[in-house]
Amino acid sequence: MLDKTQGNSFYRDVVAGLSMSQKALPPKYFYDERGSQLFEAICELPEYYPTRTEAALLSRIAPDLAKALSGYDHLIEYGSGASKKTRIVLDALTSLKTYVPMDISEEFLLGVAEVLNADYPSLDVVPLVGDFTGDVVLPREVRRGRKIGFFPGSTIGNLGPEGGRDFLRRARRTLGENAAFLLGADLVKDEAVLRAAYNDRAGVTADFNLNLLSRINRELGADFDPCAFHHNAIWNPAESRIEMHLVSDKAQRISVNGHSFRFRKGETIHTENSYKFTPDRLKELAEDAGWSVRQLWADEAFPFAVALLDAR
Ligand code: AVJ
Repeated sequence: MLDKTQGNSFYRDVVAGLSMSQKALPPKYFYDERGSQLFEAICELPEYYPTRTEAALLSRIAPDLAKALSGYDHLIEYGSGASKKTRIVLDALTSLKTYVPMDISEEFLLGVAEVLNADYPSLDVVPLVGDFTGDVVLPREVRRGRKIGFFPGSTIGNLGPEGGRDFLRRARRTLGENAAFLLGADLVKDEAVLRAAYNDRAGVTADFNLNLLSRINRELGADFDPCAFHHNAIWNPAESRIEMHLVSDKAQRISVNGHSFRFRKGETIHTENSYKFTPDRLKELAEDAGWSVRQLWADEAFPFAVALLDAR
């Protein structure tokens, strides 16, 4: 089994995360191929408002974006998934030469890139497999020219305050002096709406959360029984975030390739934070990271913001 785990950062992160007093796992590991598909299903749920709110907002501001971003050459998207919302931006920004979708899920990304290449014949689609929470090396196709970073979906909210700032700082360095950045972020709203969005009735979010255990079993030779855990999402008002947890239904011992971990009944693995922002907090975050806010648009019914940033 050693070959499976040596030098494997997934293995190291899992062992480290399950060794903490509050067990925790990084949310980026949700997105294997099955996890990416489950996330696409989440985006279609009646309770999950962010995707359709942001898509509607992008469509509404598309003419503004076309004006504001007319001279730019390359669009680099961090965590592109199915690139559905991207199409709204690609349709608006006719000066674009290159689109670089970056994603951690290779099979998923390459499939999406192929379809986009066919649908946008005048655009060079250059997929980049990788983890945007680490250092990003851009493909040579976009080394020259003006770049736009695109980070929709409020994924910034999964990184935490320091993680979000560090990410934006690194993006500022990667994208260069005259870059712009289009950032989508979910805003604080009614608690019942937030909680429903992460505890959907069909149980898709639960499957998405529990799939992490199946992935650890499959890829790291662990012996989790996913049926002995259940999904829970809570609103933490002091931190302004939704927290997702996997709750152990009983006292149990799990082994991950030789490492043994004990769970008490009711003990949780904290699998995700999803921070919710205010426009002021977003502005602060951007400015802390070397960007300034050129414009901010917000949806009123389901508060959600899209901010256009300029490198400072
Ligand atoms: C990855 C930010 C789009 O935090 O809302 C959805 C992930 N987790 N339901 C979010 C997620 C549970 C999602 N984003």
